[in-house]
Amino acid sequence: MSNAGHDVIEVIHTKRDGGELSDSQIDWVIAAYTDGRVADEQMAALNMAILLRGMNRREIAHWTAAMIASGERMSFDALSRPTADKHSTGGVGDKITLPLAPLVAACGVAVPQLSGRGLGHTGGTLDKLEAIPGWRASISNEEMFAQLESVGAVICAAGAGLAPADKKLYALRDVTGTVESIPLIASSIMSKKIAEGTGALVLDVKVGSGAFMKNLDDARELARTMVDLGLDAGVHTVALLTDMATPLGLTAGNALEVAESVEVLAGGGPADVVELTVALAREMLLGAGVRDLDPADVLASGRAMDAWNAMIAAQGGDPSAALPVAREQHVVTAPSSGVLTRLDALSVGLAAWRLGAGRERKEDPVQLGAGVVWHARPGDPVRAGEPLFTLHTDTPERFDRALAALEGGWDVAPEGTSYEPSPLILDRIS
Ligand code: URA
Repeated sequence: MSNAGHDVIEVIHTKRDGGELSDSQIDWVIAAYTDGRVADEQMAALNMAILLRGMNRREIAHWTAAMIASGERMSFDALSRPTADKHSTGGVGDKITLPLAPLVAACGVAVPQLSGRGLGHTGGTLDKLEAIPGWRASISNEEMFAQLESVGAVICAAGAGLAPADKKLYALRDVTGTVESIPLIASSIMSKKIAEGTGALVLDVKVGSGAFMKNLDDARELARTMVDLGLDAGVHTVALLTDMATPLGLTAGNALEVAESVEVLAGGGPADVVELTVALAREMLLGAGVRDLDPADVLASGRAMDAWNAMIAAQGGDPSAALPVAREQHVVTAPSSGVLTRLDALSVGLAAWRLGAGRERKEDPVQLGAGVVWHARPGDPVRAGEPLFTLHTDTPERFDRALAALEGGWDVAPEGTSYEPSPLILDRIS
């Protein structure tokens, strides 16, 4: 890495004035920020310049490489099975990782899934799994390796050594209005996934009100950028663009989503959760070179449930223990009979968050039993006076603000109204 001849003002000026950052400018600024020679306010100015001016493909690839080089790089080459991972850009009711990781493991492919916690209205996989009594998110690299060999799936927190530049940068972007930059999102996600060392990667890029990317064009550009970064780094990478205008399944909230995931593993569960789990599993198997197994058959066989039980138990969890239940419930009933024609993901996500399922600041605790259950999905018939939503919380003073979030977030049309379902999987980018 060259670090001669740079200072941070020169780097900021280059991007502020619409120029291209050189490889050595990028190497220098990422290393200097990681070890504290570049201050937060200077990096914030550079992030804003990048958000406004963009970066070209070479700059994005080099920025990503520099973030990977800031920390350790894991390798699963010594494992006896191929590896595949999935990353979702985040949505409401998105519990897919929970049934997906054991399903893919049951098909013979190891899944090293480094996950995060929820911030804002989108939930975090680690918060969901912590609803299971005894389960722990932090394990050592050695434990991770051993579990991948024995069980085939690990869902755990990323260690401090993985892409430390991104940890600092992401926290800074969060408080300086610079999250929504395609080059910065793509490099943040892909630096962690490439450093993690997975052989194949499937990206679930969410589109719609409950997602970062509100429209298909932006989602396509983000997906294309991430797929190119993965392919350039030698990782077999594919992206599915999937709908997040409507929340996934019938639940949002930590323990509620674990229960729904277990239903899927038991062969039931909402059709959209099953469809997306199987579609992503197929892509992960293809990426890992497994072509002779249909994950739908493996799900039906019960082997994915066996892998789930083993995966949870290996991290101290009791898969048969009762899940936490919120102390208070409030039911919202349908005002008229008809057809549910719209259910807005952002409204449901905000309601779940306000009930205590999510956190406002990184250090806040979450309520494990809190969240929202919706009793119908768009296209389903509803009957006047019957439950439409059940809100769950330990702290009933939260109901009013959650109900305000749901207001205007759904429509019931008169009986007989025709409803055209929209597809869940909108595009595939490879
Ligand atoms: N998730 C990440 O890890 N990074 C981003 O920038 C956005 C979402």
